[in-house]
Amino acid sequence: MAIRNVVTVGDPVLRKTSRKVERFDEKLGQLLDDMKDTMYKAEGVGLAAVQVGILRRAIVVDVGDGLLELINPEIVETSGEIEDVEGCLSVPGENGLVKRPEYCKIRAQNRKGVWRFYEGTGLKARCFCHEIDHLDGILYTDKQIKNLTAEEIKRLREQD
Ligand code: CO
Repeated sequence: MAIRNVVTVGDPVLRKTSRKVERFDEKLGQLLDDMKDTMYKAEGVGLAAVQVGILRRAIVVDVGDGLLELINPEIVETSGEIEDVEGCLSVPGENGLVKRPEYCKIRAQNRKGVWRFYEGTGLKARCFCHEIDHLDGILYTDKQIKNLTAEEIKRLREQD
């Protein structure tokens, strides 16, 4: 178990395009284990390898229904639209209002290289889109409708 350092906005690595994972070896397993530990420690719901400085197309996601390790993920289908609050471990202390698909289906490989489909709605769909954006150097702040203060987030939550 190892916690890696999460790079934050301003670090140019976050703007780079991550390369495809080609080798499904022990080193990839170690990276995924560390990403999982790092995400849980930071109480995040998703983390991309680039956020720990590794430019490979790998993400981990857990929105509360179990850990997903997604290698070379690609969006295959989306539908609907929802505006909701979003944050990022690489943009500490900030939140924004971002429009994302309500439903998202992706395909990805697991740590053994096996392809399968994954789908999600709401937060999970949002998380898939957010993390896959990281692999192309995109941050949620590029897409946000506006930055939200803690007070505005509280008000939005009360409406739910
Ligand atoms: Co992020």
